Amino acid sequence: MSEIHPVDPAFAEKARIRKDDYQRMYAESVQDPDGFWKRMSERLDWITPPTKIKNVSYDPANLHIRWYEDGQLNVAANCLDRHLAERGDKTAIIFEGDDPNETRTLTYRQLYTEVCQFANTLKNLGVEKGDRVVIYLPMIPEAAVAMLACARIGAIHSVVFGGFSPDSLASRIADSKAKLIITADEGLRGGKKIPLKGNVDESLSRPGTNSVETVIVVRRTGGAIHMQSPRDRWYHTLMEGQSTACAPEPMNAEDPLFTLYTSGSTGLPKGVLHTSAGYLVYTSLTHELTFDLREDDIYWCTADVGWITGHSYVVYGPLANGATVVMFDGVPNYPDFSRFWQVVDKHKVTLFYTAPTAIRALMREGDAPVKATSRKSLRILGTVGEPINPEAWNWYYRVVGEERCPIVDTWWQTETGGFLITPLPGAIDLKPGSATLPFFGIKPAIVDAEGKVQEGACSGNLVITDSWPGQMRTVYGDHQRFVDTYFKAYPGNYFTGDGARRDEDGYYWITGRVDDVINVSGHRIGTAEVESALVAHPKVAEAAVVGCHHDIKGQGIYAFVTLNAGETGSEELKKELVAGVRKEIGAIAAPDHLQWAPGLPKTRSGKIMRRILRKIAENAPDQLGDVSTLADPGVVKNLVEKRLIK
Ligand code: WT7
Repeated sequence: MSEIHPVDPAFAEKARIRKDDYQRMYAESVQDPDGFWKRMSERLDWITPPTKIKNVSYDPANLHIRWYEDGQLNVAANCLDRHLAERGDKTAIIFEGDDPNETRTLTYRQLYTEVCQFANTLKNLGVEKGDRVVIYLPMIPEAAVAMLACARIGAIHSVVFGGFSPDSLASRIADSKAKLIITADEGLRGGKKIPLKGNVDESLSRPGTNSVETVIVVRRTGGAIHMQSPRDRWYHTLMEGQSTACAPEPMNAEDPLFTLYTSGSTGLPKGVLHTSAGYLVYTSLTHELTFDLREDDIYWCTADVGWITGHSYVVYGPLANGATVVMFDGVPNYPDFSRFWQVVDKHKVTLFYTAPTAIRALMREGDAPVKATSRKSLRILGTVGEPINPEAWNWYYRVVGEERCPIVDTWWQTETGGFLITPLPGAIDLKPGSATLPFFGIKPAIVDAEGKVQEGACSGNLVITDSWPGQMRTVYGDHQRFVDTYFKAYPGNYFTGDGARRDEDGYYWITGRVDDVINVSGHRIGTAEVESALVAHPKVAEAAVVGCHHDIKGQGIYAFVTLNAGETGSEELKKELVAGVRKEIGAIAAPDHLQWAPGLPKTRSGKIMRRILRKIAENAPDQLGDVSTLADPGVVKNLVEKRLIK
């Protein structure tokens, strides 16, 4: 039996959703999805309200996912314009810089004005509805402005995380054929400068990127950069004298809002495409109910806008709800390990949302940096990105929240747009390490390897049997890849790529990816991408990459590398290879361990048996399982003996 933290009756009394509400609304949402989601759509301002609600088929031969398809609205107008009458002077964004002395706030009216001006800027530069715009910015308000300005004119944004390399940026530009890029001179993280504009320059020298006509540069640090005329333009110059009136473009519910690239088991990252209305209904609803949102809450999600969490729960969901959002451009350990809690006190944060990797890293520093602060304002704590181990959960609950704040462990994915399995804090008893129960309209199921649905307490692969409005609609430019990746493994279901267990109370416990995706600090890294960066080195013949245990990151990256005949492995070459991966993908993909492999375990048909490599990397050589199908069982012995984690 796992530990249970029942809902605090005092909390439940004031909560938006209580236990009986949850049961009633959940039943309604799955029995009558059309009725339920029509009602939920009324939370938005429509230009033309929808009459058709759900039109979905998960049949791989005829796959389509449409919500509210005859409705029209504008996402930016829903995040800004409709708040002006009542919340014009309310703070929309509290910006907290890397440097603790840098704080800036924008009211809803100020944000609206800046978005309109920037939308006009984009229009003047020839950006039209349907054009793609790449955003490569730090966590500064201009990132939200840029996203919302795109949404206002119907351009499709593609935010690329500032930690990605010029090569990764180039491949995303090439795939989306973006017309324009918005970047900053430099980023600033933990006191260190990141050459964002320099990276853009480098990426634009790569093949396939000549769709880009304009680069808009926000002045962030004032560092020296090269401005190439007429391509490169300063944000502040373009904005001067720009009209503050910009009518929002009427968008069909199913018009694309953005693409966001994410790693899968194979090939290059794919452009996950989200559309307008369903996404906004879903992100705003999940945000409001999971965080039990009140008008005077100060909400802080530490995620970067380069990830889906930053899209759905820094920008779109919270702003659609008229919330006050903290945007933080720093790191948890700068200037010291107390920073998160100092920011909480400084801005009186009530709702705080971060990742298990950050919690573990802070937990390692002991309680003192936390206890040096008050944290009295905190009401709810959230976590996302990977399974949270009960020790970290308990520390978060006990030390950070002083046993006063429920923890919402939100399970979801880039593909799902918003939370699918999550506690509602006034309704659902908590179990440390479990994302608990499905959100409204979500029908999870656990299947075995053959796809047979399991009943009761069980474990297996997690699928979702029906659609919800926030679901991704396609892979940008490659619909077949969408069908193949998510709807072929278990026909009739959306396959999540995660394994899960369901307990006797119906609670879900996510056990992690079951495909070739590694979850490093809550970020997805495809093994194939790292392998391809490794074999790009002229001395490397072959590489196989798997996940391994890592105390802070959750999973680390473990690479097995076979060199060309005649080459020998050295520490120096190891460093070179790791540096190569950093350069090609970004620091987050750098292998933590690199083992020389004279040979890799393969089947007789030449397929690398990762199952075996995973066990070696997990230091579980006694669990290798059946190795009889290997072409050369001898290679395993060497790899086991020389394994790097013992
Ligand atoms: C994968 C999705 C969704 C935002 C952050 C990551 C893992 C995510 C949880 C959680 C256990 C989780 C899953 C999922 N994951 N949240 N609360 N408990 N695992 O988005 O990069 O699309 O990764 O992250 O493995 O499939 P993403």
